[in-house]
Amino acid sequence: MFVLTDLPDGFHDDPYPHYRRLREDAPACVQPDGSVIVSRYEDLDRIYRDTTTFISDKKAVFGPKYGVDSPLYEHHTNSLVFNDPPLHTRVRKVMVGAMNPRALAQMEPGLELLIASLLDKMEGQRDVELMEAFAGAIPIEVIGNMLGIPRDQRDPLRDWSLSILGALEPQLTPEQEAHGNQSVRDFKVFLRGIIEDRKANPGDPEVDVLTRLIHTEGDHLTEVELYQNCIFILNAGHETTTNLIGNSIELLDRFPDKRAELIANPKLITTAVDEFLRMESPNQFGNRLTTSEIEMHGVTIPKGTDIHLCMGGANRDPAQFPNPDEMKLDRRPNKHIAFAGGVHTCVGLTLARMEGRIAVGRFLERFPKFEITDGMERGGRLRFRGFSKLPARLD
Ligand code: HEM
Repeated sequence: MFVLTDLPDGFHDDPYPHYRRLREDAPACVQPDGSVIVSRYEDLDRIYRDTTTFISDKKAVFGPKYGVDSPLYEHHTNSLVFNDPPLHTRVRKVMVGAMNPRALAQMEPGLELLIASLLDKMEGQRDVELMEAFAGAIPIEVIGNMLGIPRDQRDPLRDWSLSILGALEPQLTPEQEAHGNQSVRDFKVFLRGIIEDRKANPGDPEVDVLTRLIHTEGDHLTEVELYQNCIFILNAGHETTTNLIGNSIELLDRFPDKRAELIANPKLITTAVDEFLRMESPNQFGNRLTTSEIEMHGVTIPKGTDIHLCMGGANRDPAQFPNPDEMKLDRRPNKHIAFAGGVHTCVGLTLARMEGRIAVGRFLERFPKFEITDGMERGGRLRFRGFSKLPARLD
């Protein structure tokens, strides 16, 4: 049986045969702790839409996991993604409003410049580690600009983000838990100066997320909600987009005919980004909690059960995607659920697609003959699929 806390050897190299067996043989796979994995596309799609039976609030799960007095508990139970209405609705409205077309259009020229400067820096080098030099360097700048974090203060953000999101893994060592808790504490101290400054000097509320979060009309966020949602947005747009860029470049290396197709027809990049998101989804698992007893595929699932939504598996479901293991750069329709679905659908999906399109497109234009070389390392996480090292030869 497939057990999330005891993954089979080689799982991270290729999880897809395991997901296929789950979809085919155990579409509602009960785990030793009573939680259940679901992996068929139509089940995930239905669960995302049914917010009465499947809720996002995680207090019941995170209380025993982190302890109710811990910083990790405070963070993960106050961020919008692990909440239901009314907190979810209030915070989401503010964030969606800040990602309007004008705000995104304003970001694009800066993003082009940033990517061009990273490519320029790599130009003179033959061998480069792409996660550090490229994929990891882009989202942090984008989110840092979005929240107005001074450039010279951005260094610690990646480590905080990795350890706070890493604490969502099914199993944690005491060191990982302590690191996650310390990161939440440090992040709050760090944000204090930035938030106080923005309170005194508000930005343009049309495009500035932080100003919007601080001045939520009529229905202010509490201090805790404000801080924890700032941390969340910094984290949400960060590791995921880094992994989108890294995973896409690795896919183009693995499928040389697709690389040639994209070089010959660069306009394909828009649909190609969605195919990269489907093939190697940066988020492989999400969660919901049942509010009543339900029946799925002959399994009775009690009220209060933690459901693991296997997005990586659903995005390879042949019932939804013909020839799911084949990468088709112009796949249409491509209703993948790499950004989840329903009321919690990723707020940053347009921004993430724009980052992916420009980063991967420009990289391939500049280094069409790149090759991934020995020493590639997977991140080794279940929820977040990506590389910790992606060495490449560029010429
Ligand atoms: C490739 C990049 C990205 C991927 C794959 C991704 C994926 C996701 C997923 C799967 C969720 C839903 C989680 C759930 O409910 O179970 C989500 C939510 C969210 N994402 Fe993203 N994300 C990406 C980039 C971004 C960016 C760039 C931002 C913002 C700058 C962002 C902001 C958010 C926010 C605020 C939510 C919470 C939405 C809610 O609960 O209503 N994400 N994302």
